[in-house]
Amino acid sequence: MRGEDPSPELMEALAPFPRERTWLLPALREAQEALGHLPEVALAQVAAHLRVPLSEVWGVATGYPELRLAARGHHHARVCTGVSCALLGGGELLAETARRHGVAVGDTGADRALTLESADCFFECSMAPMIEVDGAYHGRVTPDDVAHLDRWFRAHAHHPAAPRSPAHAIDPAPAVTAPAESAEAALDRLAAAADMRQRGRPALRLSVQMGTCGRAVNAAELLAALHRAVAAARIDAEVVAGACNGMCYAAPSIEITHPGWPRAVLERVTVAALPALLDALAGDGPLGATGVAWSEAAWRGLVPAARHPFWAGQERALLARAGAIDPESLDDALLHGAYRALAHALDRPPVEVIEAVKASGLLGRGGAFFPTASKWEACRAAAGEPKYVVANGEEGEPGIFKDRHLMEGDPHQLVEGALIAAYATGASRVILYVHGEADLSAERLERAVAQAEEAGLIGDRVLGRDFACAVELRRGAGGFVLGEETALLESIEGRRAQPRTRPPFPVESGLWGKPTVINNVETLSAIPAIVGRGAAWFAGLGTPKSPGTKVFGLSGPIARPGVVEVRSGVTLQALIETIGGGLTGGQVGLGAVVGGPSGSIVPAALFDVVMEPRGRVSPGTGGIVAVPEGASVVEIVKTLLRFNAQESCGKCTPCREGTPRLLALIEEMERDAAADGHTTRANELAEAIQLASLCGLGQAAPLALLRALETYPNDMTGRS
Ligand SMILES: Cc1cc2nc3c(=O)[nH]c(=O)nc-3n(C[C@H](O)[C@H](O)[C@H](O)COP(=O)(O)O)c2cc1C
Ligand code: SF4
Ligand code: FES
Repeated sequence: MRGEDPSPELMEALAPFPRERTWLLPALREAQEALGHLPEVALAQVAAHLRVPLSEVWGVATGYPELRLAARGHHHARVCTGVSCALLGGGELLAETARRHGVAVGDTGADRALTLESADCFFECSMAPMIEVDGAYHGRVTPDDVAHLDRWFRAHAHHPAAPRSPAHAIDPAPAVTAPAESAEAALDRLAAAADMRQRGRPALRLSVQMGTCGRAVNAAELLAALHRAVAAARIDAEVVAGACNGMCYAAPSIEITHPGWPRAVLERVTVAALPALLDALAGDGPLGATGVAWSEAAWRGLVPAARHPFWAGQERALLARAGAIDPESLDDALLHGAYRALAHALDRPPVEVIEAVKASGLLGRGGAFFPTASKWEACRAAAGEPKYVVANGEEGEPGIFKDRHLMEGDPHQLVEGALIAAYATGASRVILYVHGEADLSAERLERAVAQAEEAGLIGDRVLGRDFACAVELRRGAGGFVLGEETALLESIEGRRAQPRTRPPFPVESGLWGKPTVINNVETLSAIPAIVGRGAAWFAGLGTPKSPGTKVFGLSGPIARPGVVEVRSGVTLQALIETIGGGLTGGQVGLGAVVGGPSGSIVPAALFDVVMEPRGRVSPGTGGIVAVPEGASVVEIVKTLLRFNAQESCGKCTPCREGTPRLLALIEEMERDAAADGHTTRANELAEAIQLASLCGLGQAAPLALLRALETYPNDMTGRS
């Protein structure tokens, strides 16, 4: 953009946005996408277009970490130094990148060729250590890779284009379906049509794991090579860009489906191995690959799932279809049972749905474990129209990456869960709020929404019934606090992400003062299973204190990092040792970071304690990072605390001032181990922060330090 002239390019980019404040964040994202950064004149253009005071546009533009007011170099690299990546050498990779490319961290080299930054997490911790280069993630990175960073440079150094919000704006013209005798009958017709189309497709399907995790280790290259190899060998097979089934450790992997064969997954497939693999598939002998098959006994050299260490202890309800279906196909989702629970719900009164969710005992999976049915009931009873359902897919807590797997792997399941929530609560609008960097989640959800609209699953008469619902996608722009429910509402309204004081609670006065239910992605993804398979079935999968299943992300230096779903009431021993395969290289476990920066390091001595909400060991939001003996407890606690201090929105003093002060206290302890009183001062300050902070960020920020002082006093104080 030249000088102070308004940019015609930007004018064009802004034109689709209605001139309302709610579009401020999407418009700023769009402007940044068009220009690479947000110069002052772009802010003025956005302000003029949306009729928002420039000072407030400035306030929002400087309030979200992903919005950039300054230009970057021609290329851009970010090296993750979050706990999982740090344990696998992230810090060394950052230093090596800086050294090799002659650029300081946080700086752009003198020739403006490269801007280098550190990052807190890319939310694909199973692929640690990770680097992002010109908007693309790379996983399992080695120091050698860093020496040849230029092979990852792109001609255009912007992030890949993000889906635009107005495409599915709040007042779309939804498809209308004819009145149906029942929603189930209308769905039967959709499923029958999908079945007819399916019959014309090849029997053999080869699905390359193209989740964000797979893409970080060259799955796109494998997919392209597979397309070529299948065409060259004239094999009648459908090649699909699939999703991750949770086996991130096995990426790049290929999932095979064929009538008469068990479902099968081949691990760590290389381009070089493809010709032999396709030959083997044509025969009936062993496939010459490692992997898993859903068969009673070993199948063509693959381990049966019931005996596979990653799978044997899992219970798949929410992740049942992830990896097994084409995440971009509504037909596939319908043929695997999607929208069956929605149809079932629509043929019954909304209160029956709430009763089912209540009977299931479902507790919110966003961290607070609040009973979902209570929220829904309160929203239904609240006065005010329209009502909203917001799916919280912000997931900005380092070490946690399960919601992205749910959104990428089975987007229709989330859409269905949100529609059922809307029906039950009396809402007519759903907003799917997706993290600003979770591009693939957003892309797949965007497509799912468009397909569902076209099929009459979203719109004026959902499945022909007297239920109208519009669904819209929104994107964040970074910041941990943005995931806090009221901060998220502020951002939708076009403001900085700062939590609101409560009461009133969102169920009474949420988005634009109207009753609003906000649920986590995992919570909403559980709804179709509860309504479809029964509340008692779901409740029976867990414990009385924690019914149902729980999805976890496993990372750190373990053999099988990935995303798993287990019956609630699991132990860390089962997750890390059995499913995750234990620490690599014969390392001994020191503990595990559970719950990211709002959590703490759980010592290995507690690995056999059943995890329950508010129990001795709480599952938190489901991020588990295994920590080996020899890792620095102080460094981990400092990483978590530094993150909380940096992410404080600044609204309340104890969090804004106290959290950095706690960090400084640790540094004082490190400098002067012999001095007395540090622990007492830390405890007093922590108590003040916990009691006087407005939101969960400040309230939970001191936890990691407090627990570490109790559990690892010598490591923390430097005394023996
Ligand atoms: C700092 C902070 C960050 C949060 N981030 C998220 C998040 O990324 N995703 C989420 O679902 N909930 C997050 N929450 C919790 C939400 O405020 C809210 O409790 C949750 O979305 C409600 O959904 P649930 O009842 O289904 O758990 C966060 C809370 C705090 C205090
Ligand atoms: S506790 Fe921290 S993040 Fe939360 S409102 Fe207060 S200052 Fe903001
Ligand atoms: S991706 Fe590096 S810590 Fe999460």
